[in-house]
Amino acid sequence: MRIIGLSCFIVFLFGCTAAPSTQTESEYAVAMPDEFAAQVALDVMAEGGNAIDAAIAAQFTLAVTYPEAGNIGGGGFMTIYMDNATDFLDYREMAPATASRDMYLDDNGDVHPTDSLFGAKASGIPGTVAGMWQAHQKYAKLPWARLVQPALTLAEEGFRVPEKLAGRVSRYIKRLEQRGRESNFSDYFGNAATPGALFKQPELAATLTRIRDHGLAGFYSGETADHIVEFMQANGGLISHEDLSNYVAKWRTPITFNWRGYEIITSPPPSSGGIAVAQWLGMVDAVVSNNGLPPYNSGHYLHLVSEAGKRVFADRAEYLGDPDFFTVPQTQLVDPDYIAKRAQAINLNAISPTGDVQPGLYESEDTTHFSIVDKWGNAVANTTTINLSFGAGVVAEGAGFLLNDEMDDFSAKPGVPNFFGAVGGEANAIEPYKRMLSSMTPTIVLDDNKIKLVTGSPGGTTIISSVTLSILNTLLFDLSAEEAVNSPRFHHQLLPKDTIRMHPGFTVATKQMLTGMGYTLDERRFGDLHVILQQDGKLSAASEASGRGKAVVEKAQ
Ligand code: GLY
Repeated sequence: MRIIGLSCFIVFLFGCTAAPSTQTESEYAVAMPDEFAAQVALDVMAEGGNAIDAAIAAQFTLAVTYPEAGNIGGGGFMTIYMDNATDFLDYREMAPATASRDMYLDDNGDVHPTDSLFGAKASGIPGTVAGMWQAHQKYAKLPWARLVQPALTLAEEGFRVPEKLAGRVSRYIKRLEQRGRESNFSDYFGNAATPGALFKQPELAATLTRIRDHGLAGFYSGETADHIVEFMQANGGLISHEDLSNYVAKWRTPITFNWRGYEIITSPPPSSGGIAVAQWLGMVDAVVSNNGLPPYNSGHYLHLVSEAGKRVFADRAEYLGDPDFFTVPQTQLVDPDYIAKRAQAINLNAISPTGDVQPGLYESEDTTHFSIVDKWGNAVANTTTINLSFGAGVVAEGAGFLLNDEMDDFSAKPGVPNFFGAVGGEANAIEPYKRMLSSMTPTIVLDDNKIKLVTGSPGGTTIISSVTLSILNTLLFDLSAEEAVNSPRFHHQLLPKDTIRMHPGFTVATKQMLTGMGYTLDERRFGDLHVILQQDGKLSAASEASGRGKAVVEKAQ
């Protein structure tokens, strides 16, 4: 189905960030959360680097220019299609050795409201530098130092602060003040990250110099490690020298499945995202094959997708956690017969009672994502995070980078929702060196072994909806990359009960139908999609207009 005229309408509403290509020859493309990372990645590929080289350079750049979520103090996932083979890199943070199941409970057994979200105690062992190192060892073409250098230069010489970043910094500082939180955040960002100012980060530049010159050792031992551990010890955090030297990034087998003739390559546990996308698309398909496809973004369509989402999140809460600690029933969860059976209970005319939707076998929302395709047709989908905007809100003093608050992605107490309203139990309980469950879902779709779509988004649990809808919007409803990133999206996750979170922009008729059925509508934006789409042999790339992303397609020389 083609949505006639939607493109023009969206361009009119939001402005155009997309870069449709007219080239039929070899091209490469990026869809990045900011202009700095986009330029760095394009330069790397112009110089003969592949998608992995570009990804490593972009990841380090975002640690400098996109401090809300870009990082060296956090972690992430990278989905890879390289030389016609699939791969997946897990550089998710791990709980420190002295972390324990009840570490965020007070004397009454209640979850402390902020300990897992703010300050040194909220941080897991960072995985980003180990992840980039592993990716470099296995796939890169250009030298490590070449790839770290652009970030280092931006930290040392400074960059002009975009208005949107300055706004986020000043709002964050206000929130810290209102909540009476002690933090060194404003010492690092307060006066310096103002609109248009040249923002230099000398401590971060020194850390990046050590990483450039000594690789892994430049972060996990020596001076950087000393700064991290000293900061932890002075501020109630747990990460020790031993934890840093024990951190490992892991190669895992991605989840791959067939959907409507496409091969979808996506995130395995400790992400919940890949299994969720497989279930979500499968359930929607099962219903559509019996009942037909409701019109795009109609009330019927939102209800159908929400009913499926309810079941996806029931399974997520029960069965998903770090596969190194908990046996995730992955095969059963993505089994087409199981998915079709789950779909049978979907009621197209009424909301299934939330309490009846049990597991069938059961997160500020920041994080950031980028998508890359190189001239050889390799692709990287990379989602990276320090959890909430600006992570734990504290900078590792001396090392100059923000620490993550990823520990909140664990289930601090069975049944008690985390920041993103997600509940969990045994599968995602805190244990030393365990990785916390994630929703990050960097995804690549192949058509006949060639890149069709590279997609991903930030947004806590809403990531799964953004990714699922980007696939449905481009490959089922035939929207362009630009239309797909800017069309309104929605999200339903079992709890809060019968609540659909939705972007502004849905029609009155759609909203009236849903409220008439009993849904509560929570109109708030979420996510920041960055997609690359191949149509008729041509690439187009788009970054959501509400963010500060940049998407570019270049013809290879
Ligand atoms: N911190 C968000 C996620 O990993 O899902």
